[in-house]
Amino acid sequence: MSKSGTILYLDGVSVSFDGFRAINNLSLVLDKGEMRAIIGPNGAGKTTMMDIVTGKTRPDTGEVFFDGQTDLTRHDEAEIAMMGIGRKFQKPTVFENHSVEDNILLSLKGPRSIFPALFHKHSAEEKRRIDEIFSVIRLGDKRHDLAANLSHGQKQWLEIGMLLAQDPKLLLVDEPVAGMTDAETEETARLLKDIAKTHSVIVVEHDMHFVRELGVKVTCLHEGSVLSEGTLDFVSSDERVVEVYLGR
Ligand SMILES: Nc1ncnc2c1ncn2[C@@H]1O[C@H](COP(=O)(O)OP(=O)(O)OP(=O)(O)O)[C@@H](O)[C@H]1O
Ligand SMILES: [Mg+2]
Repeated sequence: MSKSGTILYLDGVSVSFDGFRAINNLSLVLDKGEMRAIIGPNGAGKTTMMDIVTGKTRPDTGEVFFDGQTDLTRHDEAEIAMMGIGRKFQKPTVFENHSVEDNILLSLKGPRSIFPALFHKHSAEEKRRIDEIFSVIRLGDKRHDLAANLSHGQKQWLEIGMLLAQDPKLLLVDEPVAGMTDAETEETARLLKDIAKTHSVIVVEHDMHFVRELGVKVTCLHEGSVLSEGTLDFVSSDERVVEVYLGR
């Protein structure tokens, strides 16, 4: 397999915890600019796969490359984040006591102190980027509200905006629509599709209606490796997938 043209390249990756193989000879390749949905039953290794990519967990064996050339197993979490891999954990972690806009300002990439950020001394370029982020995360009319007053779904969007403010090349998003209303779930699919126009994205999600809305290639993990890969129709009619996941 060639790494050129890939944003993420995992080959033969394994990791064990106390003798239990959570990731087992996993190979997964994401092209530059691609959005991929990852599904799979509880314990399949989806979150552990993200832990490996972000440097939180080091694999026992296998190759993990970013952008076709950078060996991620040689870098730590902070370095990997700086390279442009942004991660959204399941639980929203916004600064509740700050306005929505300040949450974005505080996340903007680049050397800055909190003081000018909070007193709105930002350049025209920063202003342009902030406006762009607000147009993506659908919170323009909430800019000056306290983050604490957002709905659960809106907090998830704000946190996605905070990720975008870090200017990542690759976004890893773990179960973004858990706990969202149906309307928020549908809006989140549109929001991620907008982001995917200019970023590479991996979305882990159990909600099949949402995965269908994304309309992208799907990888089903099971016992730490790829069980099936293709369109959602292909994967969801794959006997092995039906057996381990959809037919539970
Ligand atoms: N740090 C760890 N120490 C020990 N076991 C772990 C660790 N991290 C993950 N595991 C185990 O590895 C397996 C895979 O877990 P993981 O969280 O990656 O699954 P998942 O596919 O994200 O599941 P879910 O859909 O429930 O989020 C599980 O059996 C889990 O208990
Ligand atoms: Mg998980």
